[in-house]
Amino acid sequence: MRHWVLITGCSTGIGRALVPLCRAAGWGVVATARKPGDLANLPPGEDLRVLPLDVTDPASIAAAAGACVDLSLKALVNNAGYAQVGPLELLRPEELRAQFETNVIGLHAVTHAFLPLLRREPGARILQVASILGRMSAPLAGPYNASKHAVVALAETLRLEVGREVAVVVVEPGAVQSEFRATLARVWGDLPERARGTRYEAIISGYLAHRNHQAGRHGLTSEACARRLLKALNAEHPPRRLVIGRDAFWAGFAKALLPAAWWEGLLRRVYRLG
Ligand SMILES: NC(=O)c1ccc[n+]([C@@H]2O[C@H](COP(=O)([O-])OP(=O)(O)OC[C@H]3O[C@@H](n4cnc5c(N)ncnc54)[C@H](OP(=O)(O)O)[C@@H]3O)[C@@H](O)[C@H]2O)c1
Repeated sequence: MRHWVLITGCSTGIGRALVPLCRAAGWGVVATARKPGDLANLPPGEDLRVLPLDVTDPASIAAAAGACVDLSLKALVNNAGYAQVGPLELLRPEELRAQFETNVIGLHAVTHAFLPLLRREPGARILQVASILGRMSAPLAGPYNASKHAVVALAETLRLEVGREVAVVVVEPGAVQSEFRATLARVWGDLPERARGTRYEAIISGYLAHRNHQAGRHGLTSEACARRLLKALNAEHPPRRLVIGRDAFWAGFAKALLPAAWWEGLLRRVYRLG
């Protein structure tokens, strides 16, 4: 009997890369995206179901859960997410709210809807895609840091509550090459104008180029990252934490080891905060 995995946010990036890898490994895949047209070029097959799913839309989540009741759903990958960045003193409350709606409330709503289906399968697992920024905070990424810290907290709580029936894996990638940074620049809207005349003006104007450069230099490809997720999907004993990428590993190591003042000084220098 085929086991199925449902993945959110399959239009691009890590989610998209995971679809063919899972199929090649024998999984049936429920590939979901806000706009199912984004998935039109996935090769059809009995091992693929394409569904619309916007994690901020309760009706769309309920419809997707209803469309999966006939499947042996053994895994859920809560991958959908984006980054709202910007200095906190320029951040509008509605931007923070929107960040949480997708990355936190959306992730919880999907988990909540699919847990009853997962519970039916022995060895079921949920992969909650957080970030290494769920364990540490980078300057200028306050909303994203906060949302991913919340994802880690929810995942660790869920593991305590249901972990003996459904394994919960916290996925903590460092930089990954995907649409992530292009979306980030779209979502920040008029931030460059808001920053004009403030101490952030020059930092913001160089922020994207710097992040793109870092991701190009140190970031894994989406496929390399997805391969690590697949390993956790197939593992007999899934790991509690999946730290992905050398940058994530070393950043975690340095933060744990360095005195807080040194760590903060390092981040201020890297982000040119003086
Ligand atoms: N790339 C990195 O450096 C990095 C590092 C650490 C963690 N992560 C995490 O990895 C996950 C995947 O990101 P990625 O790098 O693959 O970026 P990506 O290429 O931008 O993919 C993000 C996916 O999330 C989807 N999405 C956004 N809002 C959604 C919503 N309301 N409902 C359903 N889907 C939604 C996007 O769909 P649309 O195309 O419709 O917008 C897209 O399919 C995210 O949770 C991200 O926070 C990424």
